[in-house]
Amino acid sequence: MERKLRQVYRSTLCLTATLLSLSFVLAIDFANAEPEPVPSGRELAHSYDHGNCLACHSAPTDKNAITLANIAPPFMDMKRRFPSKDKLFKQIWDARDTHPETIMPPFGAHSILSETEIRKIIDYLYTL
Ligand code: HEC
Repeated sequence: MERKLRQVYRSTLCLTATLLSLSFVLAIDFANAEPEPVPSGRELAHSYDHGNCLACHSAPTDKNAITLANIAPPFMDMKRRFPSKDKLFKQIWDARDTHPETIMPPFGAHSILSETEIRKIIDYLYTL
């Protein structure tokens, strides 16, 4: 009986040690995990599943903006044409405010893009 108890005790100890070392390995793994890369304004504007601005707009001065879109005005000279970032923000947040019949998706109002993402896109637009 005593031998059996000792055996149970030993295997419990062994199991505990294994679990402890496993959790230690996992903890190290989490600590070393690369954080998700944060997409830049350009990536957001170009991506199909986020902004997808290039579905309708072209960006003639950005050689990486590959699109044949001509539904909407091209992104050109943005800083001069939109000196107010607020105005640009409103257009992207909900274009219906200025053009009720617009086909441009209300990116902010419909939670397609977050406020931070829209601000990043604006920074990108200012480079065009
Ligand atoms: C489905 C087509 C479509 C998509 C996608 C789209 N837009 Fe537009 N956008 C338009 C149209 C059409 C206009 C013309 C004015 C209006 O209808 O509001 C416009 C106008 C604009 C304007 C004003 C341009 C000017 O020169 O007056 C800005 C800035 C703009 N869009 C930014 C964006 C951004 C940034 C994105 C991506 C996050 C985007 N748009 C995605 C259709 C689109």
